[in-house]
Amino acid sequence: MGKARNTATADGIDMSQCKICWAIAAVLGLISIVLVTQRMPDSTLEPSQDARAVVSVTPEEREMILEEMRSLLEAVQTIIVANNAGDLNTVAVAARIVGRENMNPRAAEFVAKLPLDFRKLGMKTHVQFDTLALDTEKFESTEHVFQQLGELTGNCVACHRSYRLATNEAN
Ligand code: HEC
Repeated sequence: MGKARNTATADGIDMSQCKICWAIAAVLGLISIVLVTQRMPDSTLEPSQDARAVVSVTPEEREMILEEMRSLLEAVQTIIVANNAGDLNTVAVAARIVGRENMNPRAAEFVAKLPLDFRKLGMKTHVQFDTLALDTEKFESTEHVFQQLGELTGNCVACHRSYRLATNEAN
């Protein structure tokens, strides 16, 4: 008898708890959806929380730097393909395109405000491309090209590990 009443009571409690649980779950679900949809556009604009140092630039400066970056990657790719094909003339030409001579003259207007280490790494990269071009013509060795390219791309890795750009309209 007592047992039967307990069961009935327990069932009643279970039922109502269940309804409350579902209601809570539904409300939490809705809140999550609202939070996620509201936060998503924001979070893409927030600066990343990584450990790289921020280099503040204007949107135009950023565009100039990234354009140069894309030409660096293009040079690296051209050099690898040409070197594999034993076409050392193309290797030298591609390296010179991103050498010191062909640096964007407009970059000179703002390089002074970039961190010293950043500037040094950037300049070292251009100089090493020049050296690669000269050495390719001098030694005509595909092995040497690959060795130099390996060393040179260490600059890309070092800089990318240390810095990121941030645009600040006030700059
Ligand atoms: C002196 C520093 C430095 C050096 C050296 C450097 N980079 Fe970069 N690179 C950057 C920064 C800073 C960014 C932007 C990263 C960010 O803001 O998250 C970047 C971005 C890039 C991008 C993306 C471009 C885009 O349009 O978004 C490519 C590709 C790239 N670098 C290739 C290279 C290659 C290849 C090398 C070496 C041959 C190299 N970089 C050397 C600093 C450097």
